[in-house]
Amino acid sequence: MKVEQSRTGLDELADSLRGRIRGDVLVSEPLASHITIGLGGPADLFVRAGCVDDLREVFAFAVERGLPVTPLGSGSNVLVADRGVRGIVVVADGELEDLHIEGERCVAGGGCPLSRAISETVRAGLAGLEVLYGVPGSVGGAVVMNAGTRKGCVADTLESVTLVARNGSVREVPAGELGLSYRHSRLQEKPGEFFVARAVFRLRREDAAAIRERIAAYAGARRASQPLDWRSCGCMFRNPEGDSAGRLIDAAGLKGLTEGGAAVSERHANFIVVSPGAKAADVRRLAEKVRREVQERCGVALEYEVKLLGEWADE
Ligand code: EPU
Repeated sequence: MKVEQSRTGLDELADSLRGRIRGDVLVSEPLASHITIGLGGPADLFVRAGCVDDLREVFAFAVERGLPVTPLGSGSNVLVADRGVRGIVVVADGELEDLHIEGERCVAGGGCPLSRAISETVRAGLAGLEVLYGVPGSVGGAVVMNAGTRKGCVADTLESVTLVARNGSVREVPAGELGLSYRHSRLQEKPGEFFVARAVFRLRREDAAAIRERIAAYAGARRASQPLDWRSCGCMFRNPEGDSAGRLIDAAGLKGLTEGGAAVSERHANFIVVSPGAKAADVRRLAEKVRREVQERCGVALEYEVKLLGEWADE
């Protein structure tokens, strides 16, 4: 589903959609400012959906006009092509960022930052989400990626999600039906078909000070081992079974390898960091080079953890 639109065509589409939803609709919005690595071209239409009805309307509109929809969280695990993304990019806003606590459950909108979900649950004396401390991202993105650390992942505490589908359905789905495994959920198999409007986490009571002590230890370890002062998409590749992509890339001698403005981090080899002026294509080319070298030198085929979005055809 590839749709080329003129600027006038896009303005017309945006006007029609504006009449149907509460949230903002922007035309040719540069995605670099919505992505942690700070690179990538524009979204034809960029929509801030403020509620479940907005999401349904956006999908209905997309079906009517034959446009692809690309849901975006906080852009921490994605690389957007320099040519940008055709169709509609949607982020959660307004009500979809709300969070409330009901007993031992945390109900968070898909657009709620994970960091806020962690801090508010810890303040309420609820443990479970702190294992995700330091993982950048939104609740929705974290669900889709089954985000995690060595201490645990979303699947450990997720009870259910509310999904809005391209066909207009709104369903509460138990976590057990999402096929959650290491950095994977079934939602990744059908990109653009679902949006995570809300997630419910089942937590357990614990003294907030004890949880905070664990967080302090995680934060220290992370700061020491990851290039947090640089722009990146987080870990570029999934860890192969029983090994670590970072260890393999390091063992292959690739730390410091560069392509244009992109470099394999000297601090943690599974991070590609960028300097001002870098292009998304530099990152992609460097990542491909890393894959080829690791395959040749270590005999392991690395798989992307980062999601590649947009038009990459000729790069
Ligand atoms: N290592 C090296 N060289 C490096 C990097 C790592 O030899 O340049 C070695 C380390 O010494 C260690 C092993 O590789 O023995 C594993 O490294 P680390 O403990 O840093 O963990 P990781 O497997 O590389 C995973 C997650 C991170 C998460 C950390 C901490 C993946 C792909 N990565 O990293 O998640 O922050 O554990 O819990 O699952 C992410 O998903 O974006 C991410 C960064």
